[in-house]
Amino acid sequence: MDMKASLTKFTEITNQQFQENSFKNLFCTVEDQFHFNSTTVKAIQLLDGQLNNLSSEDKEALLLDYINGFVRTFYQIDPYTNFSNEDKSIMKQIYLLLLRDIINKFPIEKIEKRHYERIRWLIKKTNPAIYQINNNSNIKAKHFVCAEYSSAFQLDLLSIDKRFLIEPILDIGCGKHGYLVEYFRAQHLEAYGIDCLKKNSHYFYNCNWLEFSYGHKKWGTIISHLSFNSHFLHHYLQNNGLDIVYAQTYMRILESLIPGGSWIYTPAVPFIENLLPLEEYIVNRTWIGADFYKTIITKL
Ligand SMILES: C[S@@+](CC[C@H](N)C(=O)[O-])C[C@H]1O[C@@H](n2cnc3c(N)ncnc32)[C@H](O)[C@@H]1O
Repeated sequence: MDMKASLTKFTEITNQQFQENSFKNLFCTVEDQFHFNSTTVKAIQLLDGQLNNLSSEDKEALLLDYINGFVRTFYQIDPYTNFSNEDKSIMKQIYLLLLRDIINKFPIEKIEKRHYERIRWLIKKTNPAIYQINNNSNIKAKHFVCAEYSSAFQLDLLSIDKRFLIEPILDIGCGKHGYLVEYFRAQHLEAYGIDCLKKNSHYFYNCNWLEFSYGHKKWGTIISHLSFNSHFLHHYLQNNGLDIVYAQTYMRILESLIPGGSWIYTPAVPFIENLLPLEEYIVNRTWIGADFYKTIITKL
């Protein structure tokens, strides 16, 4: 097999391994369920002979695939996971250490033990809440549901009439498929989306919404349906420190609206909305069913 084919195969196998591990509890106190499966072991053996010949380009591509797979796996189980760019560079180092252990021809059991210990360390450091809720005898990790909704559903729930939207539009946490952005684009509206699971392309940005450069007086409409503000609320209730970063980002998002522009979102976050200066923002909160409220903030 040539190098390109081996790398593609290796990425497929890594993804299978991620998938297989995804629901397991990394911090289970009674059993260590984290082992490489037989396909991964074969892939390691396959890669072993070729690692020294990897070009730096191939290595980068391999690392990027690994990081994306890693992030995807954690978000799939716990959408409140947060990985900054700095955390991703630590992931990269962990993967390089794994490759080094393979080159050093350590026995497979030793390689996997060292690898998963590093992963546990990383999660404890970057997302202590994951450790706290999973440090128990449960075999399965605590799982939160995270769904993506059709554009029709979102437009209806948020009562958005496309004729009155001010462009450009930004959808924060647009989802892996970016349905709303695709819908607006099909209507010839200038729309963009950001999401940590969306691949970069012409009008989509793969990024953490806490690290995105929103700009200043830039957006006519910002939308975030069950995304940024659900997470803000979650971290606020957890009182885990990340709520402060969310509050700062919330203010940066408001600053990025043009005068007359609006941010439409659900769920409402009254604890911060009630603090906004009345001479700068109009806050309009509407009940949309059960315990849910949507908010429209208009910049004056
Ligand atoms: C419940 S889904 C909602 C998606 C879309 N707004 C919808 O209603 O269909 C939440 C989205 O937020 C994204 N997300 C979670 N944390 C994020 C972060 N820190 N930065 C960027 N996107 C994030 C997830 O990848 C997911 O697509």
